[in-house]
Amino acid sequence: MTRDEQKKQAAEAALDDIEAGAVVGVGTGSTANFFIDALARIKHRIEGTVASSEASAARLKGHGIPVFDLNSVDELPVYVDGADESNQYLQLIKGGGGALTREKIVAAVSRKFVCVADDSKLVDVLGKFPLPIEVIPMARSYVARELVKLGGRPVLRDKFVTDNGNVILDVHGLQILDAGKLEAEINNLTGVVTNGLFARRPADVLLLGTPTGVRKLD
Ligand code: A5P
Repeated sequence: MTRDEQKKQAAEAALDDIEAGAVVGVGTGSTANFFIDALARIKHRIEGTVASSEASAARLKGHGIPVFDLNSVDELPVYVDGADESNQYLQLIKGGGGALTREKIVAAVSRKFVCVADDSKLVDVLGKFPLPIEVIPMARSYVARELVKLGGRPVLRDKFVTDNGNVILDVHGLQILDAGKLEAEINNLTGVVTNGLFARRPADVLLLGTPTGVRKLD
């Protein structure tokens, strides 16, 4: 079974978490794209969606699925999104696609965060995947120097601008043993918009596509 087949399997399993008549939070990336395509099949059963990126909004609209501004929505029963890494506590690294800030906002509002991924994303210790950090452009060098003091090797993502008009620093070489602490420390650096650690608001459920079927961790 290919990685994509595993991602698709996990994404389709997330349909079981969708309540009739709900507004659904929708993430970003290749696994979220499989979820969007699956959601299109039951679009008549939901009220609409909130998207965590312009790219996902465009894909949802392409399927004829309504996309609402988060500010016009009172509650989100469920948010479905992928991840770059998850540990056994369902703390995540996200932002490989650069949509981490909007993803974190949608996750914060959601009652339940269902993370969908292929099984290569489950790791013992977070940090092999470079940690994405969204930074206000003028603070780029300052934040990079501070990240070096925290033990990382920040690399500016080449020719990339986020949906919010900012840059991304991908931080290599971190071994993240206390994800909640590091998440708070990095967010405290002036000029950081947000970082890709989802530890203070981890996923509630992780659906992993495996060669033998979908494995559920919660
Ligand atoms: C997007 O910014 C990310 O947080 C994605 O959720 C993450 O990179 C996973 O992407 P794939 O589903 O493409 O692996």
